[in-house]
Amino acid sequence: MEDDKNFFIVLEYLDGRDLFEFMNRNFMNEAKAKKILYSILRAVKYLHNFGIVHRDIKLENIMMTSKDGHQALPKLIDFGLSKIFMVDEKSNDKFGTIAYCPPEILLGKDHWSTADVWSLGICLHVILTNRVPFVSLDKKQTVKNIIEQKLNFN
Ligand SMILES: Nc1ncnc2c1ncn2[C@@H]1O[C@H](COP(=O)(O)OP(=O)(O)OP(=O)(O)O)[C@@H](O)[C@H]1O
Ligand SMILES: [Mg+2]
Repeated sequence: MEDDKNFFIVLEYLDGRDLFEFMNRNFMNEAKAKKILYSILRAVKYLHNFGIVHRDIKLENIMMTSKDGHQALPKLIDFGLSKIFMVDEKSNDKFGTIAYCPPEILLGKDHWSTADVWSLGICLHVILTNRVPFVSLDKKQTVKNIIEQKLNFN
């Protein structure tokens, strides 16, 4: 739907919480994390097949379909920063949220669909450890960490 100034997108109503809140209320283990991430990966692959890059994948933009932890399925929302990339097109636009932002963007380089893959990796880290990697109180340090720091899995 559209009027003179706006486009309106009608979405299915998701009666759950975002994945960040969902995790605070539901016990998470590797098997559940795998199921959730696999659904989101399929959604992102579907988008990428059409040349659409989401560019703001984070737990707050993954909504669960139900408050019931056993029934809830994840859905990707918030396409406010997404972009359709033409074949071989790259972009140097700004990204959504710094904690989920890949190094190439912080370095001012071009990005494309692989930017979403980085954000998905951050999501998986948060789901499994309850901690956002690389983030420090100082924004400059966060940027430095994302660019330089190696993750320690021990
Ligand atoms: N399909 C939906 N069903 C139910 N609630 C939704 C749906 N889509 C979005 N919401 C709710 O609206 C909130 C904001 O949506 P969205 O992430 O698309 O916008 P946003 O630009 O990030 O806004 P904000 O900055 O307020 O988070 C979501 O966190 C969620 O609570
Ligand atoms: Mg959002």
